[in-house]
Amino acid sequence: MTSPRQESWTATRGTPLRGEVAIPGDKSVSHRAVMLAALADGTSRIDGFLEGADTRATAAIFERMGVRIEAPSPSTRIVHGVGIDGLRAPSGVLDCGNAGTGMRLLSGLLAAQPFDSVLAGDASLSRRPMKRVIEPLSRMGARIDAEGGLPPLRIHGGRALRGIDFESPVASAQVKSAVLLAGLFARGETSVREPHPTRDYTERMLAAFGVDIDFAPGRARLRGGQRLRATDVAVPADFSSAAFFIVAATLVPGSELRLRAVGLNPRRTGLLAALRAMGADIVEENAATEGGEPVADLVVRHAPLRGIAVPAQLVPDMIDEFPALAVAAACADGTTVVSEAAELRVKESDRIAAMATGLRALGAAVEERPDGLVIAGGALRGGTIESHGDHRIAMAFAVAGQLAGREVAIADVANVATSFPGFDGLARQAGFGLRAR
Ligand code: S3P
Repeated sequence: MTSPRQESWTATRGTPLRGEVAIPGDKSVSHRAVMLAALADGTSRIDGFLEGADTRATAAIFERMGVRIEAPSPSTRIVHGVGIDGLRAPSGVLDCGNAGTGMRLLSGLLAAQPFDSVLAGDASLSRRPMKRVIEPLSRMGARIDAEGGLPPLRIHGGRALRGIDFESPVASAQVKSAVLLAGLFARGETSVREPHPTRDYTERMLAAFGVDIDFAPGRARLRGGQRLRATDVAVPADFSSAAFFIVAATLVPGSELRLRAVGLNPRRTGLLAALRAMGADIVEENAATEGGEPVADLVVRHAPLRGIAVPAQLVPDMIDEFPALAVAAACADGTTVVSEAAELRVKESDRIAAMATGLRALGAAVEERPDGLVIAGGALRGGTIESHGDHRIAMAFAVAGQLAGREVAIADVANVATSFPGFDGLARQAGFGLRAR
């Protein structure tokens, strides 16, 4: 038997970050583009598709259900849609890999199919809560078995779904999207309201595929029984991947880095507001709209930061950026407080615990709270970090290594490929000190 792949990095101070970086495509948008193109009538082209393990897993799942997907060049997919009623029963378990988005969105879509299916994932995904989607989908008439509310999900086919009026208890785009995708197949109208607006890519993309959907921040409503019309999708660069470069260029003295055409959907860019409140110098240039999404170049110059209390209303808009923010906070002058962010405990790892433990290993004073962190800024020293198999924890500590007094060893970084294949190469090109161990 081969042992599991254990890759690790050593991060050390590099040079000031300079030049331009082309960030890969958005993960959230790439997942949805494959899903909707597969269900559409006709052929769709996706440009800027993220060649990450997560999004490739989603594409492979649709191929197993009879959808032909061509990859004429890297980051391009031609998806031959089979129509809303055209998916075929897959044989065997469908592997979502590390992707919560893949599994939760697919649960809504598969709950409405005439065939049974099983969704499984890796060790991290197998620990993530699925009740949040099973509960509303069951109310729509779905039957999904999941021991303890955890993957694998055994989805029973042949159920007639009915629309619901769902008031979501969590601010989660994945939950909202699962219900909306099931609603496409349901009798009557499905509406979702959320406690705080979350990213609306599913809604925007359904509209782009010709679905009549009514949505505004915090709510969405559609009628079941509509067909999707193929369309081309231009995927913007992923803000969450850009975040590591934004924080690094802000922290490393002498840096001036341009990140090209980054997606700036307002439900994603809470980190910009938080960093600017801390004193960051981030300028948006060449603003444009790409595939219906705002994009701009971000020019990031080094600036000294001061600690802040992160406003709770920003939390959903920067939910994936807390690992990066925590490193910024640890290098800021003063104290940063993160609260009302308990969702961080059920991400790819428990990110509150992972960041607290990791930053403490580098000498930072961090208080861990049930729903957040209190981080006292100061100088970081070298140390050894466990990524807990979480891509964003690994990349955040690669950034910390640019500021630490001695080298930072980061174990278990293979999962960076789920969202940002090639991160280490791009980081080195920009000036990071980062090498494989
Ligand atoms: C995502 C929604 C968020 C986010 C995840 C991607 C999406 O998760 O953390 O990385 O694509 O819908 P939640 O819905 O659990 O907040």
